This record gives sequence, C-alpha cells and structure tokens, in this order.
Amino acid sequence: MDIVTDVPVPDECASKISSYTGQKYEPEIAAELWLKIIQHKWFLSEKLGRDAGIKVACLDYTENVDAITEKEIDEDKVNTLKELGGQLVDRSIWDTISESQPPKQIIQKRVILPLTEVDLAEKHGVVPPKTIIFFGPPGTGKTHFVKAIAGILNWWFIEASPSDLMADGQDRLGKNLKHLMEKAGRIEEAVIFIDEFEEIAGERDQASRIDKSITNEFLKQVPLFKRQPGKRLLVCATNYIRQLDTALLRPGRFDLIIPVGGLDIEGQRTIFEYYLSRTNSGEVDVEKLISLMPLYTPADIEYLFRKVTQKAFERELKAGADYRLTTEIFLEVLLEVKPSLTEEISAEFEKDFREFTRC
Ligand SMILES: Nc1ncnc2c1ncn2[C@@H]1O[C@H](COP(=O)(O)OP(=O)(O)O)[C@@H](O)[C@H]1O
Ligand SMILES: [Mg+2]
Repeated sequence: MDIVTDVPVPDECASKISSYTGQKYEPEIAAELWLKIIQHKWFLSEKLGRDAGIKVACLDYTENVDAITEKEIDEDKVNTLKELGGQLVDRSIWDTISESQPPKQIIQKRVILPLTEVDLAEKHGVVPPKTIIFFGPPGTGKTHFVKAIAGILNWWFIEASPSDLMADGQDRLGKNLKHLMEKAGRIEEAVIFIDEFEEIAGERDQASRIDKSITNEFLKQVPLFKRQPGKRLLVCATNYIRQLDTALLRPGRFDLIIPVGGLDIEGQRTIFEYYLSRTNSGEVDVEKLISLMPLYTPADIEYLFRKVTQKAFERELKAGADYRLTTEIFLEVLLEVKPSLTEEISAEFEKDFREFTRC
C-alpha cells in the first residue's frame, strides 16, 4: 500500500511540526520527519481502530521516537495484525483482579517479573514461560485473565477460538491452526489466546480421525512456537482439562498449567466494587452482599449488575426521579440470580487442581 501521497514541501513541514510541538526543525529534516509522521499516523490509526489525527501522530512520534524505532513501523506487521485481529487491551483490566487471586500471583511472579526484571532473571537463569494453560469452571475469569496479561504487558492480544479456526470448514482447522501459529510467530510482543482449547487438543484415544489430526498438528506446533525467539506467549483456556490429550500435559509443552477457580472474599469485593463504581449507587452494604455470594463467579456478578442496573434504569424512568442503588435492590435481584458454582463443581475442580496444576 502506498501510504505517502504528497511530496512534502520542507518549509511547510517545518511550520506544521512546529505548530503542533512548539519545536523548530531545519526544513530538510522536517520534511523527512513529516514522512515518518504520516506513516506513524497510519500505524497509530490501525492500532487504535480509528483515525488518530495528524496532530496526535506528530506529538506521539516526536515524543517517543526511540520507542517507535523499537516497535518498528512495518507495513507487513500491520497487515498480519489486521488479519489476525490483533487488539490492544487496556492496562486497567489488570486492576479489576484482586491481588489475592492465586492465578494473579502466579502470573505476576512467573511471567510479568521475569519479563520486566530482565537482567535479574538472566542472572539467575530464569527463563520466562512461553506457553500457559488456564483451566477452571466456566465464568471464573480465564479469558479476562488472559486479556489482563496482554494489557499489563502492553502486548498485542490475538484471540482464536476453534469456531474461528473452523469457519471455512472443519477439515481446514488443522491448516488454519498452522497458519495462525506461523503468522503469530512474526508478531513481536503478542499474547496468542486459544479459547475452548479442548476442542482442538482433545484426547486422541476418544477422537474421530479428523480430531486426531488436529491434535497432532497442535502437538507439532507447540514445540515450534517455543523454539522461536522473541517475546510471545501462547495461552490456552479450557473448562475441561480432563478432556485434553495427555501428551500435551506432559512437561515440555506447557510451561505453566494454572487453575482458575472460585473467588475469595477479596476477589469478590474487587469485582463487586468495580461494577458498583460504574452505577448510580447510594447506600450499598458490600460486605453483607458478598457474604451472601460465596459460589458466585465473576460472570455471575456481572450478570447480577446487568439485572440491577436495568431495574434501576426502568424505575427512574417510571418515577421520573433520581434512583440510587441500595442494598435492598441487590437482595431482591439476588433471589433471581443463582450462582454458577455448586459444591459438586467446586469438589471436581479441587480434584483437577491437585492433578493438573503446574506452576
Ligand atoms: N476480575 C474481574 N473483574 C471484572 N469482571 C470480570 C473479572 N473476571 C471476569 N470478569 C467478567 O466475567 C465474565 C466472565 O469471565 P470470563 O473471563 O469470560 O470467564 P471464563 O473465560 O473463565 O469463562 C466476563 O464478562 C468478564 O468480563
Ligand atoms: Mg472464556
């Protein structure tokens, strides 16, 4: 794609850059810089998914030249990112997960710190993991965790579900998987996320012929991915760890196998308060409410808030006066929102936890 349309006039470039940044440049230097700023505007717009504007691009470029050279503005990379649906995730997602959650502590210690304290990690021969499995019951926040990791690392988030990979026919899944892994291998600083992982890595003994070939393909791809140099993480999530092929679970393929189970009180509180902060709330006894919700997953809490806020909206519309959330409306709606976890599911999870965890 030709991204530079006009030959820049040096004097004009100098005056434009100076009007945006307040800095003076020699016209010839400004003309060269201008080309890079236009290219950066395009790159930034692709990244943000909207037109970044020339002023923003100019300020961003002139303030972060070093960072940009590092990030290598590269048309091929942008096209690959577009094809793979690469996204940037907000850093703040990380803060919606309480520090007390065991998976957050593991990720912090085993993934984030070795990647940020590079020299110290090298000194001690600590190699950051490249492949991770998250397992646990539905709605416990596995996908949310993976996004949070991409956000806090400021890496690209590239998601593929088996249904995406099968969009052009089940028999293409293996090929698409190979294609995805090869393409993603070209993106530096990326979290590649495969959801519903059991569908492409199921136990081969119980699988149909086509499933077997997909699992085989995956078994081949993981070591290739691990051997590639560069900052990249492959994260797979499953609700059903028992259905995975045992060869995948042996040491060597996945560096970490992390359970994501029910929330502790602190985890409940953080999520409850996060959603509450986005409502029109009055007097709400958070402690009382969360004490009534021991088996509620993050997805249940989100659903509770969806119902409560809809009710509040309707009530204000009807009464025509400011309506604030109180403990009572939560108690009322809680009767309609049942927890997803049961003692039985929790007991099953405990078993999986003991058998499969590796971190
Ligand atoms: N820590 C959290 N704070 C706020 N919302 C969360 C949190 N964890 C999960 N959620 C929300 O709960 C819902 C279910 O989480 P998700 O990550 O999809 O679960 P899973 O992948 O385990 O099925 C999502 O809509 C997600 O945004
Ligand atoms: Mg999920």
